[in-house]
Amino acid sequence: MRIVKTIDEVRKAVKEWKSTGLSVGLVPTMGYLHEGHQSLIANSVSQNDKTVVSIFLNPIQFAPNEDLESYPRDPERDAKLCEDTGADIVFRPEVSEMYHDDFCTYVDMDILTKNLCGKSRPTHFRGVCTVVLKLFNIVKPDRAYFGQKDAQQLAVIKRMVRDLNLDIEIVGCPIVRESDGLAKSSRNTYLNEKERQAALVLDRSLKNGIELIDAGERNSKNIIAAITEVIRSEPLAEIDYVSVVDAVSMQDVDVIENDVLVAIAVKIGRTRLIDNFSFSV
Ligand code: PAF
Repeated sequence: MRIVKTIDEVRKAVKEWKSTGLSVGLVPTMGYLHEGHQSLIANSVSQNDKTVVSIFLNPIQFAPNEDLESYPRDPERDAKLCEDTGADIVFRPEVSEMYHDDFCTYVDMDILTKNLCGKSRPTHFRGVCTVVLKLFNIVKPDRAYFGQKDAQQLAVIKRMVRDLNLDIEIVGCPIVRESDGLAKSSRNTYLNEKERQAALVLDRSLKNGIELIDAGERNSKNIIAAITEVIRSEPLAEIDYVSVVDAVSMQDVDVIENDVLVAIAVKIGRTRLIDNFSFSV
């Protein structure tokens, strides 16, 4: 496996692969990799001849008050995980390689990005779409892999690919959880022991929602109320949102008639965690 830092180098490698007809998978990440990322890489390795993992802590998707500075980093462990999982290249550019000082072109998306995480993070998806499109243009993958844990991000990327006619297959991969149910996230590392225990309320509350829907409940208000009640029982938890949205448009629905995403964002202490489940009618 090679670690590559420049756009030219990664382009050259991919060009060589493609000239011999090999397919290429891309796994975009911000590093501090865990089993969730590993499953994306493993999927790419099994479905493509070559796999590129990008590791880039993208500054433009963080607002000034967010955790860019404190975001955990461990480049050596990341490289080993990529190599052990079968990646061919780790693309690890510096910020100056990705953004010129006078960079001023962005991908902006309406509707899907305004709800859920977009409400409390209004510039986040502009940063995500912009960097992902750049990575797509740099690597030119056949397929790109994203986790279902960031379900809104996955929906947004799929829409960008459709709306901008990108010739890339977007593959969504299931949420990977700790044995006690907490969804794997690089941000889990911020939690102290008490908070780590309190964070289990996310999974617990969603299980309550799933039970309700399985029992036939279709009214979003009732589902939201039940999930909210469970989260409120945890004193360290502060709700950002509990929402039932259309699986494609990410808009709130009152009654479940089509496929939906039930998504939550909860602050545990100072750490904002997200989780979700999908329901298909
Ligand atoms: O999900 C992430 O880690 C990031 O948002 C992504 C897709 C790598 C873009 O920076």
